[in-house]
Amino acid sequence: MYSTPWMSDIVVGTMRWGVWDANYNTSNYQRMIEKSLELGFTTFDHADIYGDYTTESGFGEVLKIQPSLREQLEIVTKCGILRVCDQKPSHYIKSYDSSKEHILRSAENSLMNLNTDYIDVLLIHRPDFLMNPDEVGEAFELLYRSGKVRSFGVSNFTSSQIELLSSAVPIGVHQLEISVNALKAFSDGTLDQCIKEGIVPMAWSPLGGGDFTLSLNKELTKWSEIFSTTPQVIALAWLMQHPAGILPIIGTTKEKNLVKAKDALRIQLDRQQWYSIYQASTGSRIP
Ligand SMILES: NC(=O)c1ccc[n+]([C@@H]2O[C@H](COP(=O)([O-])OP(=O)(O)OC[C@H]3O[C@@H](n4cnc5c(N)ncnc54)[C@H](OP(=O)(O)O)[C@@H]3O)[C@@H](O)[C@H]2O)c1
Repeated sequence: MYSTPWMSDIVVGTMRWGVWDANYNTSNYQRMIEKSLELGFTTFDHADIYGDYTTESGFGEVLKIQPSLREQLEIVTKCGILRVCDQKPSHYIKSYDSSKEHILRSAENSLMNLNTDYIDVLLIHRPDFLMNPDEVGEAFELLYRSGKVRSFGVSNFTSSQIELLSSAVPIGVHQLEISVNALKAFSDGTLDQCIKEGIVPMAWSPLGGGDFTLSLNKELTKWSEIFSTTPQVIALAWLMQHPAGILPIIGTTKEKNLVKAKDALRIQLDRQQWYSIYQASTGSRIP
């Protein structure tokens, strides 16, 4: 049960599409969705909180206008953060909630906002120190049996938190910060666990949010000239080289950067090239 659906090698992130950044209107959403599909990027990453609980609806408007798009794409969304904002007057402090009741309510809201009957992958957004694994398991089971959610995962968990939750419910996806700027997952056991347990790792902020240090920029630029591409594409290809099969979630708001990202699929770095980028990030030679 809960088999993780097929997902595209590059996942399209929607965090910056709404009022937190690009402030898309419906036709902007539609253009980016259609362009992504044209490029073969069929998996879209959401969270209930994006755009202060409004970005899922912006995306959902497009599915309302063009319902045939739904079967052409996979939707990943998340729950479990209570964000303080005008849309949620009852939230007075940022907190985490992985109770059964909250997971069920949040999933129902996401389904309604996205104008869809099912979510492909539902993630717990952040580890909740008060999490009861059995309660999460009950919520997931109910959502799965009703056909509302097809598979489950987590985001920003430690290996031991995944191990704990896995005792109650199979985890198929782990969404983590991984990039040339954020190397922790390579050595803290989370990617090892993904390989061992067959968990799909997704990298959020795969370009480190868009900024590279001077030394990284120099190194990425060097290889980008050799491969006739951009430093950003090299940074994506570098992630995709890892044997865990990392799916980068690209955060661009620009069609031209979506198009460019596809270049990452053709680039193979050898080990010395890979480690030269790793070294440019840490600033010191490996032992
Ligand atoms: N699970 C979590 O806790 C979590 C946390 C954060 C994010 N996420 C997910 O990860 C996704 C990506 O995060 P992110 O937006 O920080 O990712 P990112 O891809 O590392 O950063 C995107 C930023 O880089 C800029 N950029 C500059 N050159 C670019 C190029 N050639 N190609 C692509 N982007 C370029 C983009 O600007 P332009 O718009 O001008 O291209 C945008 O401002 C989010 O949308 C969200 O779905 C998840």
